[in-house]
Amino acid sequence: MSHFLLNRRGFLRTSSATVAGLWLSGHGLRADDAPARRSPLKVQSESPFNAEPHLDSLIANRLTPVEQFFVRCHGPVPKLNADAVKVSVEGLVHRPQALTLAEIRAKFVEHTVEATLTCAGNRRSELSQIKKVGGVAWEAGAISHAEWSGAALSDILKLAELKPDAKHVWFEGADPITDKDGSVAPFGASIPLEKAMSLDAQVPGGLIAYLMNGQTLTPEHGFPFRGIVPGYIGARSVKWLNKIVVSDRPSPNHYVADAYKVVQTDSPEERAKLDPIYEFVVNGAIGSPVSGATIKGSKVTVSGYALPTGRPGCTIQQVSVSSDGGKSWTDAKLNGPGRAFCWQLWSAELPVTAATQQLTVRVRDSLGNEQPQKGTWNFKGYLYNGWHSVSVKAGA
Ligand code: MTE
Repeated sequence: MSHFLLNRRGFLRTSSATVAGLWLSGHGLRADDAPARRSPLKVQSESPFNAEPHLDSLIANRLTPVEQFFVRCHGPVPKLNADAVKVSVEGLVHRPQALTLAEIRAKFVEHTVEATLTCAGNRRSELSQIKKVGGVAWEAGAISHAEWSGAALSDILKLAELKPDAKHVWFEGADPITDKDGSVAPFGASIPLEKAMSLDAQVPGGLIAYLMNGQTLTPEHGFPFRGIVPGYIGARSVKWLNKIVVSDRPSPNHYVADAYKVVQTDSPEERAKLDPIYEFVVNGAIGSPVSGATIKGSKVTVSGYALPTGRPGCTIQQVSVSSDGGKSWTDAKLNGPGRAFCWQLWSAELPVTAATQQLTVRVRDSLGNEQPQKGTWNFKGYLYNGWHSVSVKAGA
């Protein structure tokens, strides 16, 4: 076991993949045998903690098991006492609130909804192949899907009684994040009031969630409660939520006013002019076979995930897969229900010849948005959604 480089949480470090491969072959295992033995997450960074699941395990379940769910933190994970934590509701409201978990559970109807969380930086490592970008080098696993239970943000805001000028809702987490200049500030997000008050096909625009797949949230995922904003990039779903502010403008927090914008340069002037990213974009990736796999026989079953644009009512319309570099395409079978704000898993059987080197997927949603052949490069590496390919070797 000495070759396994496990961190203190027991997760396998990405950089030890080669070592793990040697260990596996030394133990008479093929790479295919690995899923049963490996750790559920590949760690991108230990502090702050950032980790993503192995793609082939990720696409095995519509609801991602909590231990396989990607984790994205900008600062330390706070260890909070559920009895002591309160979320305040302040700003442009007539009746400010300070609510404990017990009060949230007692006062408001519990909604249970499925929603996909995806980091705006998902697939950044592929974008870096066009031109290097900084930030966590996510592969295609900074995405996961869960069933969230909690109170509708709109019910909480109604209790607080909005003032007429209210237009945006800010969130703040309890994690202290130290900036490069040494200053410390909380992680924050902001969403338009219209989204906060919306209810689309029984899905609230915002949720104060305390259960994930029916279980109490883990510390990494925001215990005791967090925001969930279905259809928006993960950065708008604030963990360890302790403040909600109603305002007439978007939050000035760094993660709204400065970060999470699609920019071409490092210029503060360019960032200041642009709106924050809210909705996620159409996307899709192959989870199995994994890159580098050897395919035996003349056919291969390919499977993966497809994500529609994060707009109300938008679902997956078509998933097309190719084994000849995009010359010919086969429609994949969509598995499970197609719902707005939710990924859909898919699978397809494709022909394999001696010339097959790559398997490729492209996804189209019901609004007609389609993954472009190549995504657009941007300075911070956000929203990459070019066709996703895996390299394979055609075996005998
Ligand atoms: N909330 C707080 N308080 N601090 C954070 O660092 N990261 C955000 C969001 N909420 C973050 C946060 C980002 S960028 C993402 S993608 C999601 O949480 C990830 O949620 P998860 O770690 O539960 O997968």
